[in-house]
Amino acid sequence: MKVISTEKSQILAARIATTLNTTMVDVKFSRFPDGELYLEAGGLDDETVIVGSVTDNDALVQLLLLIDACEVSQNHLVLPYMGYARQDKRFRDGEPISARAIAGLFRNGVEDCITVNIHEPAVLKYFPVPATNISLAGDMGACIGTMGLSNPLILGPDDGALAFAQGVAAAGGWDCDHLEKTRLSGVEVKMAPKKLCAASRPVVIVDDIISTGGTIATAAKMLYQQGATDVYAGCVHGVLIGGAYVHLKASGIRDVFCSDTIERGCSRLSAAASIAAALRS
Ligand code: R5P
Repeated sequence: MKVISTEKSQILAARIATTLNTTMVDVKFSRFPDGELYLEAGGLDDETVIVGSVTDNDALVQLLLLIDACEVSQNHLVLPYMGYARQDKRFRDGEPISARAIAGLFRNGVEDCITVNIHEPAVLKYFPVPATNISLAGDMGACIGTMGLSNPLILGPDDGALAFAQGVAAAGGWDCDHLEKTRLSGVEVKMAPKKLCAASRPVVIVDDIISTGGTIATAAKMLYQQGATDVYAGCVHGVLIGGAYVHLKASGIRDVFCSDTIERGCSRLSAAASIAAALRS
């Protein structure tokens, strides 16, 4: 078995290969003069783990090309981050179910698929091959455990994120809650933990994705007003668009960290061990 990856997932893929005690397939990536993507994979094995986060449209096309290039092999697909997964239903007439459209692309060339903290697990049913989702909640909890925080409160930004936050909190036996939004007037909204008090303690807001960082930045300012000593933000998938990292720091957040499902300077925890364990099972 060998591991092969798209350009955007090289570091995570190499970590998976190390954990599986195997090697990477060397791939040359380039473009034709008209912008079309091209790649050439080196020596393939008869069994391959194909790793590629769908972070943008080019990454998706590169992943499809990679799967095709691995035609001679029996392939296991790893989608560390699946873009388009948030459009998991038709919210308005005329919209696509984008998650279904993307999952349906993996009909040929792969035996099975592993996703990581996919935004909505119900999306797994759209894959034409057996698909399993793994969670990095425990890994994130272990990462928080190294931060030296005293009695932290782990907060999901909304009730949908509570299960993930509970998984993170369980790793350290910490308190856990989710933020609740109350509309005070036409223009004023209050965000506070639903049940617990954030005063005089550090707070870590955890979510599957930080995209613009808008929700967490607003929440952080309010948590400081409510007496939190320090606010941190952690996510699995650091999408971090439009200056999100700086926006979060400007809101007073002490530290922003994510996993390597999207490779960032603030990738502080790795999905490699959990993915390797899922591949072995
Ligand atoms: C959405 O439901 C996700 O779980 C995240 O909460 C969302 O993508 C975060 O968006 P933003 O960072 O733009 O506030």
